[in-house]
Amino acid sequence: SSLKLGMIPADGIGKEVLPAAQRVLEALGSAIPKVTFVPLLAGWEEFNARGKALPEETIRVLKEECDGAMFGSVSSPSHKVAGYSSPIVALRKHLDLYANVRPVSSVPGMPGPKVDMVIVRENTECLYIKKEEIHDAPGGGKVAYATRQITSYASERIGRMAFEIALRRAEERKGATEGIWAGKEGKVTIVHKSNVLSVTDGLFRESVRSVYDAEQRFKAVKVEEQLVDSMVYRMFREPEIFDVAVAPNLYGDIISDGAAALVGSLGLVPSINAGDNFVMGEPVHGSAPDIEGKNIANPIASIRSASLLLQSLGFPEAATKINAAVDAVLLEGKYRTPDIGGKSTTTEVTDAILKLL
Ligand code: NAI
Ligand code: MG
Repeated sequence: SSLKLGMIPADGIGKEVLPAAQRVLEALGSAIPKVTFVPLLAGWEEFNARGKALPEETIRVLKEECDGAMFGSVSSPSHKVAGYSSPIVALRKHLDLYANVRPVSSVPGMPGPKVDMVIVRENTECLYIKKEEIHDAPGGGKVAYATRQITSYASERIGRMAFEIALRRAEERKGATEGIWAGKEGKVTIVHKSNVLSVTDGLFRESVRSVYDAEQRFKAVKVEEQLVDSMVYRMFREPEIFDVAVAPNLYGDIISDGAAALVGSLGLVPSINAGDNFVMGEPVHGSAPDIEGKNIANPIASIRSASLLLQSLGFPEAATKINAAVDAVLLEGKYRTPDIGGKSTTTEVTDAILKLL
């Protein structure tokens, strides 16, 4: 068998870190089936060159030919530009990538709190349906509204994904002796604000709970709840208490960037956009114009995203192998990019990881 992966570097440092991830995938040799990489276009530069941020051909090839994909990063203009909309948001929609899964763990050998958690963010609704309106207010001035959509359908499927991930994590660390979760049972924290938004967040919470209640196998993990504001507070004070957190889109967006700050650099944090039929790895960071073209972008977020992609595609051993090599390089400390206090280049860090594969 073989794998076909769409590679979408898009803009800025995406063009530097995605090739690093590809080199790592290529170095796995017989640990995974033979991979064919298909370079695909998208992004702000592509929009300026040919008028489309997300060409139809890119969507078609992903849908019809690919088993999965890797996305780099996109530069979105801060002002509104006619005809342009973010290709990553559009891709999530076209491919029904309803979950954004972000594991955040502290870096071996670096100071900072102990963190080993996964944030599972709903990717399709909440306030991000972008139904906004603005009117003249009766008493003068303006009034603006945004509609927040929560469905039981989307909440249940994101809940199911969170419980599956918690079960898998608990299974993986059963025999482990190191790490904050070594040997411990799994836990899912439902993040909401249903003390205030009892209808929308209430539906989210009840839907996630109904998934837990419906399946006996999920009882192997614990379920608890945290109001979103105290979630932030506790995450900063005692991040080690969180295993898997599941949240509606906006809360998930905010707490996951907060969690990334706990571990030192955006250049370390991977993610996947996952649906039932497709999965796309994507570093959490943006196109970083301030360091673009200097070969100093940290490739680890991208490389870890490739690992997540492999895990989702059913190659957990190859995924673990990548993570072990990354951890060993970080722990040794000899090759680090400037964002985490080193002097190495993107290429040197990637080479050091390749050597261990
Ligand atoms: P950013 O994530 O690109 O950069 C923030 C800071 O982190 C910068 O100082 C950058 O140098 C640093 N950084 C990010 N990734 C790094 C890496 N791998 N290694 C070392 N340092 C790294 O966010 P910013 O500057 O707010 O946005 C820049 C552009 O990226 C904007 O056009 C924005 O719209 C876009 N963006 C795209 C995202 C995506 O593709 N999903 C996500 C966030 C922003
Ligand atoms: Mg964000």
